[in-house]
Amino acid sequence: MENLIALVNKLQRACTALGDHGEESALPTLWDALPSIAVVGGQSSGKSSVLESIVGKDFLPRGSGIVTRRPLVLQLHRIDEGREYAEFMHVPRKRFTDFAAVRKEIADETDRETGRSKAISSVPIYLSIYSPNVVNLTLIDLPGLTKVAVEGQSDSIVQDIENMVRAYIEKPNCIILAISPANQDLATSDAIKISREVDPKGDRTFGVLTKIDLMDKGTDAVEILEGRAFKLQFPWVGVVNRSQADINKNTDMIAARRREREYFSNTPEYKHLAHRMGSEHLGKMLSKHLEQVIKSRIPGLQSLINKTIIELETELSRLGKPVATDAGGKLYMSMEICRAFDGIFKEHLDGIRPGGDK
Ligand code: GDP
Ligand code: NA
Ligand code: MG
Repeated sequence: MENLIALVNKLQRACTALGDHGEESALPTLWDALPSIAVVGGQSSGKSSVLESIVGKDFLPRGSGIVTRRPLVLQLHRIDEGREYAEFMHVPRKRFTDFAAVRKEIADETDRETGRSKAISSVPIYLSIYSPNVVNLTLIDLPGLTKVAVEGQSDSIVQDIENMVRAYIEKPNCIILAISPANQDLATSDAIKISREVDPKGDRTFGVLTKIDLMDKGTDAVEILEGRAFKLQFPWVGVVNRSQADINKNTDMIAARRREREYFSNTPEYKHLAHRMGSEHLGKMLSKHLEQVIKSRIPGLQSLINKTIIELETELSRLGKPVATDAGGKLYMSMEICRAFDGIFKEHLDGIRPGGDK
C-alpha cells in the first residue's frame, strides 16, 4: 500500500524538479492528475496547526492574523530509519534537521517574495520532509480566506486569496480539508462555502472542526461531529490544536497530541466519539483515502503518460533534431522525464495494480 503513495510522491517530485508548472511542457497536466491534500478555511481557523499535527512536527509559522502568505507545497516522505530532515526546493542540497530553522526559512522565503508586508503571493514554496514518523502524503498549506483588507494590503486581497485558494481546490484531484473553527457559527464558515462551490457533492471534502476547546461554556459540537447538524459525505473530525499560549510556551507536539487524546476521551460529551477524533485519526483517514484515490487513478495516469510521450515525440520531430533552441531543450527534457515516469510506473506496478492487494 505504501508503495502506491511513494509512487505518487516520486512523480510529483519529478514534475516539480523540472520547474513544475512550466508553460511549454505537457507536464502541468500530469501534475494536475496526481492527488494532493489542501487545507482551506478562514484566517486563523487553525489550518497551519492542523497540518502540523498531521505531520507531527513543529515547523510551520502559525499565529493570529495573516501568517501564511504563500502556498506551501509539503511532501512527506516516509523513510525506514535515520534522523528526520527537511529540504526546500529553493535551497538545493541543504538538509535541515532543525525544524525551527525550517519555520524560519518558510518565513524568510515568504518575505523574499512579498516583502515584509501583509501582501500575499501565489508562488508556492516547496518543502519535503523525510521522516520515519510520517505517512507519505502531499499537503498544501494556503493563506486564509478573509473578509476585508487590512493595513498594508491591496484592496483586491480578499478576492486574490479566494482566487488563489480556488485554483488549488477546484482541481478534481485535490482532496480538500475544510477547516472550520468550532467557536464560530458553521453557517458562516468560509471553508464550507468555498469547498461546496468546487465540490458540490462532497466527494473529496473532509470537514475538520478545530478549537473545540474554545467553545462557549454550555455548548458543544456533538451535533456536528455526529453528522446531524451539517452532513458531509465523510464523517467530521474534531481536533484540539495547541493554543497561542501553548505555542508561546513551546508545548511540544507529543504532549499536545496526548492532551488532545485525553481531551476527547475525558470529556463526557465526546467520549463516545473519541476513537474517530483527533489529529492522528485524521492523518490515518487521509492516508487511507489517498490510497484508494490513487489506486483508482493508475490506469488513467498511465495512459496520460503514454499520451504525453507521444505528443512530445511529435512535437520534437516537428522541431527537427538536434534541437538547439530553448523550447526544444525543454521539450526534450520533458520527454526524458516522462520516460522516467514510465519506468517508475513499470517498476512499481507489479505490486499495486488496481484490484491487486498490494
Ligand atoms: P491559520 O491562520 O488557519 O493557519 O491558523 P493557525 O494554525 O495559524 O492558528 C491560529 C491561532 O489559533 C494560533 O494562535 C493557534 O494556536 C490557535 N489555534 C488553532 N487551533 C486551535 C485549537 O484547536 N484550540 C486552541 N485553543 N487554539 C487553536
Ligand atoms: Na493565522
Ligand atoms: Mg496558516
